[in-house]
Amino acid sequence: MTTLEKPLSQGKLVDWDRGLISRDVFVNRDLYEQELEQIFARVWLLIGHESQVQKPGDYFLSRMGEESVILTRDRAGKLHVFLNSCAHRGMKVCRYDEGNTAIFTCPYHGWGYGLDGSLVGVPGFKQFYHERLDKAEWGLTEVAQLTNYKGLIWATWDKDAPSFDEYMGGMLMYLDAVVDARDGSEGGSEVIGGTFKWRFPSNWKFGAENFLGDHYHGISHRSEVLVGTGPGGPGTERHGIGQGQVRTGLRGNVSFTRLGHGSGGGPPLLGGTHYFPDFPNNPDVADYFRQVSEKRQERLANKLYAPAATGNIFPNVSFHGWFPRGLAVWHPNGPMGTEAWRFPLVDKSAPDEVKEVLRHYYQQYGGPTGMTEQDDMENWNYATAASAGTMARRRPYNYEMGLGDGDPVVGLPDAVFTEGTSEQNPRWYYRRWAELMEAESWNDLYPKKRD
Ligand code: FES
Ligand code: FE
Repeated sequence: MTTLEKPLSQGKLVDWDRGLISRDVFVNRDLYEQELEQIFARVWLLIGHESQVQKPGDYFLSRMGEESVILTRDRAGKLHVFLNSCAHRGMKVCRYDEGNTAIFTCPYHGWGYGLDGSLVGVPGFKQFYHERLDKAEWGLTEVAQLTNYKGLIWATWDKDAPSFDEYMGGMLMYLDAVVDARDGSEGGSEVIGGTFKWRFPSNWKFGAENFLGDHYHGISHRSEVLVGTGPGGPGTERHGIGQGQVRTGLRGNVSFTRLGHGSGGGPPLLGGTHYFPDFPNNPDVADYFRQVSEKRQERLANKLYAPAATGNIFPNVSFHGWFPRGLAVWHPNGPMGTEAWRFPLVDKSAPDEVKEVLRHYYQQYGGPTGMTEQDDMENWNYATAASAGTMARRRPYNYEMGLGDGDPVVGLPDAVFTEGTSEQNPRWYYRRWAELMEAESWNDLYPKKRD
C-alpha cells in the first residue's frame, strides 16, 4: 500500500513534464461539455466511406460528436453532410440508419429537404405562411468543409479549420497503409458487412489511447491467444502472423507532436511491412493473399511506405492497418460513455469467398462479438468506474513510461519515434488535447515547431 500522492503541477490536467494526467480528464462532466465545443465542433471527423453512398439519393446516418448527421449524395453525384435536425423545430429528418431517398421529409410538420439540403417543401406555404418564409434561409445545416480521401469521407463544422492535408500531416502515410488495397495499389477498399455500433461505459479517449500504440497490455489478450482464434490458425497470434513468420521492421510509438496523431508501428520503410496469414483452413483465401503479397512486394519495393500497424488520428479515429483491417470511431456519449463504430475494410476486388472469410474473422475479433475487443472493453469499463470516486480522483494516471525518449524521424516532419513499448504517444496526444481545450483559434494551435 502506498499513501504517496502526486498532485498535478499548478492544477494542470495534463502535466506534460512529469507524464501525469488527471483522472478528471476521463470522468468530469464539465470537461466533457468543453470537449464537445472545443474539440468536436472544430476538428476533422470521420463520417463514413463512399462505398456506403454509391448512388444519388443514398444516405448513411453518422455522428459528429454526440450529434446525428446525414451523409448523402445529391443528383449531381456531390457528397454532403448535414446535421440531422429540422430547421423548424429540430426533429430528426432522417431516422433510418441508411437507405435511398429523393427527399428528406420531416415527420413532425412535413418540411421537405432536397438532397443538397435546401428547403424545397413547406406545407401551408401559401395558406399559413402567406409566402413570407424565406426558404433559402432555412435549409439543413451543412458542414463547413468536407473531403473524400481515398474513399473515406471526412468533415468539420469549422470553416477556419486547417485543410485536411494540413490537419493530417505525415499521418496520411499511416492512413494509406490502412485504406490502400493489400497489393499496395492506391485506395480500392470497401466497407464490408455494414457498421458495427455499440455502446460501453467508458470515456471515449480510452479506445483512442489504446490504438495509439499500447503494446503494454498484451496480458489482457492472453486467453484469446491461447485459444488460437487468429487467421494463422492454432499456435499463431491473433493478428494473423502465420507459422514461422517473424516480425521485421521496427515497432514502437510514432508521434506527430504538433498534431496529436500517433501509430504503434515504426517509421516508414521501403515497401512497408506486412504479414499475411496462412489461413490453414481456407486454401483459396491463403492463395489470394500469396498473390497479393507478391504484387505488393513488386509495387512497393522502392517506395517509402508506412508499416501496417494500429494508430489513432486525433481525436477519435482509430485504425488497424493489419488483420483485422478497418477503422474505429469512438463517439463521445457522455463523460463516462462511448458509442463505438467500426468500419471493417476489405479489398474491393477480392473474390467473394475471401470477403466472407474476412467478415467472419472481423466479427470474431472486434466489436461487441469480438474476443479481443471484449478484453479491451472490460478494462476500460472497470477502469472508468474505479476512477470516478472521490478518493480515486485525487490521484492522476501515470504515463511516465519512456518519459523524455523519442528521436526525430528522418524525412517525416514533426514525427518522433521510440522503439518498443513506451507511453510516448498518449503523452503527445493529451498535450494536443490540452491545447485544443484552451485554444481560442486555430492560430494558437499551429506553432512552427515544438520546443
Ligand atoms: Fe420539422 Fe416542424 S420540426 S417540420
Ligand atoms: Fe487490445
